[in-house]
Amino acid sequence: MRTLIIGGSVFLGRAVVEEALRRGHEVTTFNRGRSGVDLPGVEAVRGDREAPEDLERLTGGRTWDAVIDICGYVPKVVGRSVRALNGRAATYAFVSSISACSAWPETPGADESSPRFACAPDAGADDGDYGTLKAGCERAVEQGFDGNVLIIEPGLILGPHENVGRLPWWLTRVARGGRVLAPGRPETAMQVIDARDIAAFTLDRVEAGVGERYFTSGVRGNVTYGGLLDLCREVTGSDAEFVWVKDRFLLDREVRSWTELPLWAPGRPEFAGTWLPSSAKAHTAGLHCRPVAETVGDTWAWLRGIPEAERSFGAHGIDPDKEARLLAEYT
Ligand SMILES: NC(=O)c1ccc[n+]([C@@H]2O[C@H](COP(=O)([O-])OP(=O)(O)OC[C@H]3O[C@@H](n4cnc5c(N)ncnc54)[C@H](OP(=O)(O)O)[C@@H]3O)[C@@H](O)[C@H]2O)c1
Repeated sequence: MRTLIIGGSVFLGRAVVEEALRRGHEVTTFNRGRSGVDLPGVEAVRGDREAPEDLERLTGGRTWDAVIDICGYVPKVVGRSVRALNGRAATYAFVSSISACSAWPETPGADESSPRFACAPDAGADDGDYGTLKAGCERAVEQGFDGNVLIIEPGLILGPHENVGRLPWWLTRVARGGRVLAPGRPETAMQVIDARDIAAFTLDRVEAGVGERYFTSGVRGNVTYGGLLDLCREVTGSDAEFVWVKDRFLLDREVRSWTELPLWAPGRPEFAGTWLPSSAKAHTAGLHCRPVAETVGDTWAWLRGIPEAERSFGAHGIDPDKEARLLAEYT
């Protein structure tokens, strides 16, 4: 297949490119060449998806079997690439997010049939938050593309090359060892998915010419919070001692859930469905999820090759002094 990937040089997109090349696709990537390096073997077209002249240069007289759009966040911008590529590919696959669903994370069991945020297909960057705009991006593809439209709505993605910083921060913190503040309850069941498994599923669906929407999160309860931290300790060989601190204590001290302690969703009604979306449709269609131990091990194998000072965790992680203060107060 001839496959155009918009993005493709960082995390999930990189995994899609790697898998597409492995399957023998002729891969074109389209990005600005700023955030990462294109994998060897692709035809790299440099350009900004926001610039009409760059899209024109990309498309000029060309066709592909499929477009996989990994990096769309603003409906108006996505609409521009949909218009440029309409009629030039059989399938337009758009990587959205479970956050486009307004029932998540509050409602356990949310799936593709749950309501999406109201957002116009031509909305601009200031017209909503991440999830709302993703819903508008989905509509921009659904309404503007005449061929197969495949919408992939991932849940929490982990794996090598993660640029968000969640598992990289936990691995780095646990590797440092000592008493580690662990939030909430170790038995909290999670549902995480490896970027490489989403990549394989997306390409399976693209190759089959399927136009559908799929929630793609892992298998329910594929790891617990305690199990994930234990895996971090195991792969890093650290002496970390986890001190499980109650949600209430942390919330009272304004510790930010999800970011300051990555992946921590306190046991409150608004987070009741965080780890309980249903990806049954994708699993029935063949989404295969590797063991979380493999994800954690491979992520550490990648991360340990990056000097600690050069690792980037985005908004994630708690200040070490604050962590020590909280632990001293708690115990
Ligand atoms: N992480 C999660 O847990 C999670 C969960 C649900 C959904 N998602 C979704 O999964 C996707 C993850 O994306 P990723 O970052 O891993 O993708 P990626 O394709 O690996 O990296 C982002 C790519 O977009 C390119 N890019 C950014 N702005 C661009 C522009 N204006 N024009 C052209 N190219 C541009 C970047 O290159 P340049 O900067 O060099 O242009 C880079 O190649 C996102 O859609 C995200 O919303 C993630």
